[in-house]
Amino acid sequence: MKELNSLLSERGQTHILRGFDALTIDAQRKFIKEIENIDWDTVDLWKHPEDLSGKGKVEPIAGLSLKEIEHQREEYLAVGAEAIRAQKVACVLLAGGQGTRLGSDAPKGAYDIGVTRPLYIFEMQIRNLLSVCKACGAAVPLFIMTSDKNDAATRAFLKEHAYFGYPEEYIRFFEQEMAPSVDLTGKLLLEAEGALALSPNGNGGWYSSLKRAAADRDFPAIEWYNVYGVDNVLQRSADPVFVGATIKSGMMSGAKVVRKTDPHERVGVLCLEDSKPSVIEYYELTEEMAQQKGADGNLAYSFGVILNYLLSAKKLEEIAKARIPVHVVKKKIPYLDEAGVLVKPEKENGYKFETLILDMIRLMGSCLPFEVAREKEFAPIKNKEGTDSVETARALLQKNGVAL
Ligand code: UTP
Repeated sequence: MKELNSLLSERGQTHILRGFDALTIDAQRKFIKEIENIDWDTVDLWKHPEDLSGKGKVEPIAGLSLKEIEHQREEYLAVGAEAIRAQKVACVLLAGGQGTRLGSDAPKGAYDIGVTRPLYIFEMQIRNLLSVCKACGAAVPLFIMTSDKNDAATRAFLKEHAYFGYPEEYIRFFEQEMAPSVDLTGKLLLEAEGALALSPNGNGGWYSSLKRAAADRDFPAIEWYNVYGVDNVLQRSADPVFVGATIKSGMMSGAKVVRKTDPHERVGVLCLEDSKPSVIEYYELTEEMAQQKGADGNLAYSFGVILNYLLSAKKLEEIAKARIPVHVVKKKIPYLDEAGVLVKPEKENGYKFETLILDMIRLMGSCLPFEVAREKEFAPIKNKEGTDSVETARALLQKNGVAL
């Protein structure tokens, strides 16, 4: 305890011990464990949230256009369907996020987007995957990443709905790790006395968490992981055409992309950075790059990523030990104030530390951009209102013939 005290005092973090003596022995032990698990190098990153990593030489990347895909469709489909039947493809549904922008405490997948009847985000995800299973005549192992904040609720919700018809024996849940958060001056935040304000550590940790949980132990044939976000209700997972195209390309990964129409659209773009695939944020593109045109007349940096990646299992194993950058993200974080009252802030009051799957693409070494039609495959639900909201997603679902 003495050591812990001096460690915290050296770091100006003794405030987190407020109320410690009044805790039960078990609670004290649990809290000490939380403190021992803190990665202080990461926590110190709050001081430099802006300089993540220097950018290398950025260039456009070549990818498969809708037209090219259409042309080779049958061939890709045959290769992809074969891989699915051989259980070489698994899905990883990233559902550990907190959906703070939606302002709901329930798992994002449990959000009901129906109008005349319930229609849940998870239901849409599973429905789309089931259609692939049916077409290929085989079930796909489905790994669902949750976090400490929503694991029990997610499991209970899906069980209650009989997994929306998905064969239970092909579903595995695993929990991602948690990271502490700090206020805007770097002080660790508490969510209760004796409990750090921990939050999911971003979607970049999915592979290490999956491996730690050995969630894949019953599926030794897996060669490809299709990893995607929960909030795109038009998500086409384990898409055999995408799988086939990536396998045929010989690349270590593939990314579904939509064509940017507006040079300033707020979406990360896939490009090359020092000859390696890389996703750069819209604000990192210079004006000249944003406007630049390619030989085909399209924007040169036009492949917007939609968080649907196919990653080689072998390559993932190879890069498992590599450190991926930690992003320092300003967010609204509920915290215990000095008077011991739990505050739910109205505006951003601190930083969370997250790793992102898009940073893995660089480590994969090669990536095939695979264009998909935005209005058919991209309906993300991020915000309560406005862009990428329940409203916009409903409109897109209706356009695609989904009864709400
Ligand atoms: P977002 O970046 O949109 O984050 O996640 P979020 O947590 O869902 O929402 P906000 O920012 O708090 O409003 C993109 C995808 O990555 C998953 C999310 O569940 C979503 O499918 N994710 C995100 C995780 O699985 N874990 C995380 O720690 C963060």
